[in-house]
Amino acid sequence: HEQEAFVHALRRVELHVHIEGAMTPDLLFTIAKRNGYQMEHDLFDWSTTAEHGAETTATYKEYMDLNHFLNVYTKATEVLKTHRDFHDLGYEYMRKAHSNGVMHAEIFVDVQTYVDRGLEADDVVHGLEEGFSRGQEEFGISYLMLGCALRHLSPDQCVDGMEILRPYHEQGLIHGMGLCSMERGQPPSKFLPAFQRAKDIGFERFTAHAGEDGPASYVSEALDVLGVTRIDHGINGIKDQEVFERLRKEGTMVTLCPLSNIALNVIQHLGELPIRKMLDHDLKVSRRRPWWRVEHAHAQESSPMQFSINSDDPALFNSWITDNFIAIHKEHALSKADWIKISHDSIDGSWADQERKEEMR
Ligand code: ADE
Ligand code: ZN
Repeated sequence: HEQEAFVHALRRVELHVHIEGAMTPDLLFTIAKRNGYQMEHDLFDWSTTAEHGAETTATYKEYMDLNHFLNVYTKATEVLKTHRDFHDLGYEYMRKAHSNGVMHAEIFVDVQTYVDRGLEADDVVHGLEEGFSRGQEEFGISYLMLGCALRHLSPDQCVDGMEILRPYHEQGLIHGMGLCSMERGQPPSKFLPAFQRAKDIGFERFTAHAGEDGPASYVSEALDVLGVTRIDHGINGIKDQEVFERLRKEGTMVTLCPLSNIALNVIQHLGELPIRKMLDHDLKVSRRRPWWRVEHAHAQESSPMQFSINSDDPALFNSWITDNFIAIHKEHALSKADWIKISHDSIDGSWADQERKEEMR
């Protein structure tokens, strides 16, 4: 329990969270009410807890898989209409992040989804920016907004999506680019035109959701064809010996979201995540060498995998970043040294500037 208190008290860096996935049922109801918006579908389970004076609380219903989840996620965002809505969404995430010990967050936003519905991109991006920067002032949390190409759209539409982001890159408000949404049947190379356009616009930081419900080969393709330096989820890549070795050797940051993978039936059990193997040096190298060269082999030829632990869509999974840390700790019984490694890697693998990284270390 002393160990668990240590994990609870850690300061965290969140490298993989979607702002849409951080909209709690309470915030959704508040926004729906003031916008006079009636949700067509019932997205919630209701429960009454006697201990809190018979209070009724809503949680999002369970999901069957990634595509089912994405339908609910998109449905929930239909409530968002105004600059104020986006401000509140951004600020409420920062409050939650603060109570989860977060000191730096890199946050995806699906700007194109709103523009396609007729909202002004300025209301989305400037609204969020105001909410985040208020959170930064109040809680000292630094943040970077990341755009993304949405794989449920066509490659051409994704190129248009990059153009939507151009002014916000120029204003210094959107720092990096990701590849999100449905994965199976949508190989990364299909979206190369969008990534090329993003490079033309001046983006320099690229990541991709890969190997979440798609195959290990999509992880390799994201690295080789799109030139990303970070992999989001990467589960099926990590389970593949060759891709695992490559990610490890190249020091690619892999952003794990363990409770998301459970919620979307990507894995059935947290024990399926090879956390021990990701933390340890490559044993194969040392076994091939005489015992007196083992130390040398560790230092020279092998290093552990770079990874971080994140929440993905914390409100929709009802599990925030601390819950993810604690769940991994309980399943894999990590040591303090393991947690310190994960914390340092999350800082080093973030896209914060050098000065901020030094402050956080
Ligand atoms: N967008 C929001 N959450 C996502 C996830 N888990 N996978 C792909 N796209 C997403
Ligand atoms: Zn994600």
